[in-house]
Amino acid sequence: MTFIITTPLYYVNDKPHLGSVYTTIICDSIARYKRLIGKDVIFITGTDEHGLKIQRKADERGISPSEHCDEISNIFKNKWEEWGITFDRFIRTSSKNHEKIVDEFYTRVKKSGDVYLGVQKGWYCVGCEEFKDNPTNSPTTQCSIHKKPLEWRNEENLFFRLSKYQNYIEELVREPDFIEPKERRNEVISFVEKGLKDFSISRTNLTWGIKVPDTQNHTFYVWFDALLGYISAIANEKEDNSIKRSIEIGWPATIHLIGKDILRFHAVYWPAMLRSAGMNPPKKVYGHGFLTREGQKMGKSLGNVLDPDLLLSKYGNDPVRWFLLKDIVLGSDGDFQDRRFVDIVNNDLANTIGNLLNRTISMSRKWFNNAVPSTINIRDELFVTTLEETTNKILHSYDNYELEKVTNYILDYSTQINLYLNNNEPWSSIKDEKNEKEVKQVIYNVLEASRIIGVYLKPILPDLSQEIINQLGCNKFNKKVWKDQLVWGLLEEGSLLPKPVPIISKLEYES
Ligand code: MSP
Repeated sequence: MTFIITTPLYYVNDKPHLGSVYTTIICDSIARYKRLIGKDVIFITGTDEHGLKIQRKADERGISPSEHCDEISNIFKNKWEEWGITFDRFIRTSSKNHEKIVDEFYTRVKKSGDVYLGVQKGWYCVGCEEFKDNPTNSPTTQCSIHKKPLEWRNEENLFFRLSKYQNYIEELVREPDFIEPKERRNEVISFVEKGLKDFSISRTNLTWGIKVPDTQNHTFYVWFDALLGYISAIANEKEDNSIKRSIEIGWPATIHLIGKDILRFHAVYWPAMLRSAGMNPPKKVYGHGFLTREGQKMGKSLGNVLDPDLLLSKYGNDPVRWFLLKDIVLGSDGDFQDRRFVDIVNNDLANTIGNLLNRTISMSRKWFNNAVPSTINIRDELFVTTLEETTNKILHSYDNYELEKVTNYILDYSTQINLYLNNNEPWSSIKDEKNEKEVKQVIYNVLEASRIIGVYLKPILPDLSQEIINQLGCNKFNKKVWKDQLVWGLLEEGSLLPKPVPIISKLEYES
């Protein structure tokens, strides 16, 4: 069965921010892991290009919406390549292929009797592209997310009969694995229990959107159109796109990874729309938390937006990936603090993992002819047992999307190996010839454990993982199935060790 993982389709009102980088890195790590364990993976990302927000942005810039979208969408695609993101599909909701799916899907929903004409009155946030509850009906009410005034709407719209799917959605959101993390699941359950209201799926005041068939002036509501991007992305761009084809290839998605603010769209509206079109819901919707900066919400007006481009050019990919995956529990909010970032990267990657490798290679080269030492007992039982336990914990955490646990288990293992090396003090023992066998065994064990650390890191820090493997001169094992590389004792006695260079430089904190 194909493993389909999606990021949200990002609005093209601006280039990627740290929040979008965060989601995309998580998806990339999961996609890499699944490929390594032999799954067929379709990793979908892309851009959400229609709607009033984008139209206004293009107007502000004095260019056409399509020109604006081409430019920003390209930036997204290029940035993901710079970050080494291994997406399989990049869908643009302004593409012809996508429009075809939207038309086909709408026809199905209409056929189910779930579309009717009505009047939509209410307060709208253009930033969220969403109607907001406003019990006081006060025109000064602001969107709590965007801190901008809501706009009053009173227009003829087409509606989707969400209320018809009350029972179906109630059952679905109560399924134990459908919404994660669990706290978010409870929020959605209580929202659904209050009773689902039909929602409008078209706009009449908007030209930048997909035209609704058989109407004069309606375009599809941006969310109705955008969610369908997950389906239109599945068929390859060159293929003749159809819903049937997407189902044949693998729909439903295995996991939609999104921010907590758009959970309702994904866990409530979307499954009802799919049901109406005779399709299965996604298997899981995972709502991650929000990133703040030094304790404050990131915002342009606050002047504290952390530019991901700057982070990438200054520190590189691995440090940022490690920090975001390790320091933020998936599902919880997290704070980006410069000092903490530098400390974590230096302690974990430069010292605990990097320095361990570096100094052990230096000792081995110096004492054993630039090579991995020969030992009597390659299979050191203590190491094999610890390794098996660690591997089980790491694989289990990868399988459960607990990436922060993965990083912590890898780090714990590396700390244990450092302790082992320090306790054995091979630099003292080597002074006495009779200890040579013992020293060889210690050095072999540490080198082999470092190789294993490199293999563990492959899904989350692909570049650093490769650096470790290069330093140990054992690239040839890359051809092996990933799990088989986790077997103790692969590092060959006598194999040459290249001259060590630090696999990661220590970061400097700049206040
Ligand atoms: N276009 C819609 C999604 C449509 S999916 C069919 C959208 N786009 S967005 O660009 O505004 O947001 C994309 C994602 O970024 C959302 O999942 C949102 O939660 C996330 N984030 C926005 N700010 C964030 C942080 N400060 N931290 C973490 N994620 C954040 O919504």
